[in-house]
This record gives sequence, C-alpha cells and structure tokens, in this order.
Amino acid sequence: MHHDALSEAQILDGLGTLCLGQRILLYERVDSTNSVARSLAAAGEPDGTVVIAEEQTAGRGRLGRTWLAPGGTALLLSVIFRPCLMPERIQALTMMTALALRDALLLSTALRAEVKWPNDVLLSGRKAAGILTEARTMGTSVEFAVVGIGLNVNQQEGALPIPDATSVALELGHPVPRVPLLQTILRCLDRRYQRLQGGQPPTAEWAAALVTLGQRVQVVCGERTYLGLAESVDDSGALLLRLDDGQLFRAPAGDVHTAPA
Ligand code: BTN
Repeated sequence: MHHDALSEAQILDGLGTLCLGQRILLYERVDSTNSVARSLAAAGEPDGTVVIAEEQTAGRGRLGRTWLAPGGTALLLSVIFRPCLMPERIQALTMMTALALRDALLLSTALRAEVKWPNDVLLSGRKAAGILTEARTMGTSVEFAVVGIGLNVNQQEGALPIPDATSVALELGHPVPRVPLLQTILRCLDRRYQRLQGGQPPTAEWAAALVTLGQRVQVVCGERTYLGLAESVDDSGALLLRLDDGQLFRAPAGDVHTAPA
C-alpha cells in the first residue's frame, strides 16, 4: 500500500476537537507511550495531550503483560486526562475509550466492534484493541490519568502475537490508512470525554456493548477463579457475577473467559 507514516501536521489537519490533541507528540520509537505520557503528565502536561509512537520497545498490557506490534502497522497512543473523577470511578475512562473505539471503527470502516470486559475491543470475537488506564491520585481526586490504546490496524496474520487477535486489515481484507482512522478515534474520544466531564458516566452504554453480560463465565482474579453468570456491571466498572451458590461476587478487574457449559 501507499506510504502510511504518521505525521503531526496530517493528524492535526481538520481535527476539530475541543480537548483531545491540543498537543500531539509523535515519536518514531519509545519504550511505551504510557510511560512517556506519564512522565509528561507528572511534569505538568495539560489535559488532552496525545502521545503517539510508530513503534514501542516495551509496550505494556494489563497485568504486567507485554504489548507487541511491528513498527508502522498499528495505532499506539496514550492520552493524558485530567478528569474530574473520584479515583474509584477511574474505570469510566476505560469505558469511554472502548466505546469511542467502537464508534470510530463503525464510522471509518463500518466494522461492528464488541467490547469485552474489562478493557478489550473485539472484531469477529477476536481482540483488535486493548486499553491500559493508569492514574495518579491525590487524596480523593485523580491528579491525572493516562489512557493507552493499542489498536491492531494493518497487521497481517503472522504479525499478531496472540492467536485470538485480529486487525482491522484482516477483518476488511485490505489495509487502511491510519491517519483518518486516528482522527476519527480522537474525535469520538473528545466527544465522549466532554460528556463524562459534564457528569454523564458511560456505564449503561458500556454495559449494553459488553459481549460478556448474560454469559456463563470464568473470572480469574489474581490466584483465584470464579465461575458464574455475568449479571451486570456497576459504576466502578466491576463485573457482578452470580455464583452457583446464589451469591453475588464483585470482580473489580481480572480476566474473563467463556465457561465450559
Ligand atoms: C491490554 O490489552 O492488556 C492493554 C494493552 C494496551 C496497549 C497500549 S499500546 C499504547 C499504550 N502504551 C503501552 O505501553 N500500552 C498501551
């Protein structure tokens, strides 16, 4: 396909967001955009700054995992937020981001994505994107949060590190230019961030987008595994699991698998 390098000028061209991308910092290679964004935020970088890289040498996933993507094929970015949120509501940023990715995929590729609790975006049941939210809190408020997004865009089959992953290109059958897709993501995220700052949490919409609800699942929380029916989620983003003995178990985070019938 044509040369698809990202450029700050192209990303900013006609972007039209209120908060997201007032500043865009594009790097050829970093250890992790989340780590870079965190240091910048700690040094006072404002709300809405976007850190993007063509390649990461130490991309991080949840639970200490690594996130791999060949240079120039994916969208790897982290957004600095200074939200008006209590620390226990920080998951709202992950919810809003998953929904924005879904909006953006629909708008710019017509693909219908699903959300898997707590932080994955799926295409045809396979993982296409992951979200890693990290926050620094001060007392009862969030000082800043960094929301990292890894979206598989133009990776071909062999370039995906895990077997149940996919990319936008694999789903469409052809590669796509990354800049317009990134702009759409930033616009969708901007709109949803305005709503969140206006006091509207995305929980209900997020719950409706989750593939997980209504399924019999297995949740791995640290060392323990819980089996039950994924009944609902609460405002903190925790999964409420109806265990076989009738008790309700609240899983704040973890890994969820479809349980054997
Ligand atoms: C997960 O699924 O576990 C979350 C993956 C998040 C990956 C992205 S890539 C850009 C940003 N920088 C990182 O080091 N991680 C996130």
